[in-house]
Amino acid sequence: MSSDIYQPPKDIVSRTLTTKDQYDALYAQSVNDPEGFWKEQAKRIDWMKEPTKIKNTTFEYPDVSIKWFEDGELNVSVNCIDRHLKDRADETAIIWEGDEPDTDEHITYAQLHRRVCRFANVLKELGVKKGDRVTIYLPMIPEAAYAMLACTRIGAVHSVVFGGFSPEALAGRINDCDSAVVVTADEGRRGGKTVPLKANVDEALKHAHGVEKVLVVENTGNDIKMKGGRDVWWHEAATGVDEFCKPERMNAEDPLFILYTSGSTGTPKGVLHTTGGYLVYTSLTHEVTFDYKQGDIYWCTADVGWVTGHSYILYGPLANGATTLMFEGVPNYPDASRFWQVCDKHKVNIFYTAPTAIRALMGAGDEYVDGADLSSLRILGSVGEPINPEAWEWYNKHVGRGKCAIVDTWWQTETGGFMITPLPGATPTKPGSATMPFYGVQPEILDQEGNVQTDTKAEGVLCIKDSWPAQMRTVYGDHKRFVSTYFETYKGYYFSGDGCRRDEDGYYWITGRVDDVLNVSGHRMGTAEIESSLVAHDKVSEAAVVGYPHDVKGQGVYCYVTLMSGEEPSEELKKELRNWVRKEIGPIASPDLIQFAPGLPKTRSGKIMRRILRKVAENDFGSLGDTSTLADPSVVDDLIENRANR
Ligand code: PRX
Repeated sequence: MSSDIYQPPKDIVSRTLTTKDQYDALYAQSVNDPEGFWKEQAKRIDWMKEPTKIKNTTFEYPDVSIKWFEDGELNVSVNCIDRHLKDRADETAIIWEGDEPDTDEHITYAQLHRRVCRFANVLKELGVKKGDRVTIYLPMIPEAAYAMLACTRIGAVHSVVFGGFSPEALAGRINDCDSAVVVTADEGRRGGKTVPLKANVDEALKHAHGVEKVLVVENTGNDIKMKGGRDVWWHEAATGVDEFCKPERMNAEDPLFILYTSGSTGTPKGVLHTTGGYLVYTSLTHEVTFDYKQGDIYWCTADVGWVTGHSYILYGPLANGATTLMFEGVPNYPDASRFWQVCDKHKVNIFYTAPTAIRALMGAGDEYVDGADLSSLRILGSVGEPINPEAWEWYNKHVGRGKCAIVDTWWQTETGGFMITPLPGATPTKPGSATMPFYGVQPEILDQEGNVQTDTKAEGVLCIKDSWPAQMRTVYGDHKRFVSTYFETYKGYYFSGDGCRRDEDGYYWITGRVDDVLNVSGHRMGTAEIESSLVAHDKVSEAAVVGYPHDVKGQGVYCYVTLMSGEEPSEELKKELRNWVRKEIGPIASPDLIQFAPGLPKTRSGKIMRRILRKVAENDFGSLGDTSTLADPSVVDDLIENRANR
């Protein structure tokens, strides 16, 4: 680990929103008097009815209950659009940059208002009502933003499914939240290729019978099949539709959206976020952590299919009246200079991306970045996985040219917004550390037995002591699972699932997941999901999946597969299994390495010893530890001999 400390750049400190002293004072207030602090912060958004009750939360197992601003009323789309019309109607809300470098569009707040209202009216005509769930399966086109905001306008609950997920994964998510309407496009574009979104929806709907209407946005214009009575073209449905839609009054605790994410067991969970607390928190964190100032051009490279896209492409920035850039493409198309060309083209001031992209671009060669101007950049963000110090230093030197502040933001789908992060003008940074907690966030490090580590220097699992406004409220349809996943193991705390180290200066260093969740290129995946897709293949009898260090992806997917008797291992079969997982879950879950194993290391009670599998996958089999409790210790020799990571 690098032990260098970087002071906030002088130019940033001289005009920052938050100095070190201000951070210290506000942080102290936020934890000593959360009611007072959040009552004040709630004023940053427009309420139809101001909340008088601020915080009503308990982490007490099993009666966990989280309510913020519970008697307040508001509408998210009004906060993200209407309230900016008075002063900034003709300013750009969204800059859309297409997959091809010569395609872009500037959408003003006035245009956004009209388009979102029309979208909302079309959804209403399709029968969508307050509280209904709408599944959105769109590429990174402006319609994705319109669709999400339109849901919030009428009080519908969106569930955005990343366009890279397979029909099977999409069907599971549609069924779980019982959506009657799906919004999609004919096709998506990414890196010069097309993604058959509508065809995927058709396939998914063979297994999702509750869907009555599919609203289809024409994007590439290529031929697709439309099913009479069910499928509706957006441009046809929107013709002649009113450009005003009255916003629904929503209670602060009404559901805003569901977003599925992987856990260590079972199928993905529908993380449920609600309206008031989420909006207050995402807008505050966006402003403070990015030192955002009116007029800044802000670009988060995530996809709206992930929480980063929800909180920091859409809701946080638009609530602040920002100009937010939405990018349809990928970092290396047409070549590895694309990100930097887009920064120069749109004069981006704040840039937010993931370590996996930084590492990939770093590997492509410095010439791609060094040729760009990049003088507009001021703040650089990182999210999704621990950033290794080498990548941090490269980001700082080649992208930031040594004059930008770097904010490494630790948070999760469940947390809704930033939890541990530097503030650009306040926090000295250490490459690889997410540094210090945001306002209202009280991290604690616990040991395996649940003892809180009181020394500053500590290592263990990362828990959070008290609630913050953007915390998820439940797992959709399964509150018990919410309570048992996050509040059962360490009573009285929210358990993040991450390991963490706190150094002598009180800086937090996230060390990665401590459960069976992988983080592959910043995408979160349960090993159990990949295992169940593998064993669903008729030639596979058993499978165990672990992660291993991967230079670009952070973690790679390593699969141990035991075949049905009579099946022969072959390269051909590996290819077949790879394609199978891609088809079952999506390309992001594609196995990097497959090892055919005649047997898996199990205890006498039949439990797979993952510790051993991880060590072999890491090519670190010199330190396997005690293998004497295995039912058949000889399987380990075979695993080592035939290991796939050499
Ligand atoms: O392991 C942590 C890692 O990503 C997990 C959350 O994944 P997800 O819910 O998909 O949300 C990703 C975007 C917020 C965490 O449990 N993670 C996220 N950000 C960081 C990180 N690990 C280290 N440093 C980060 N900055």
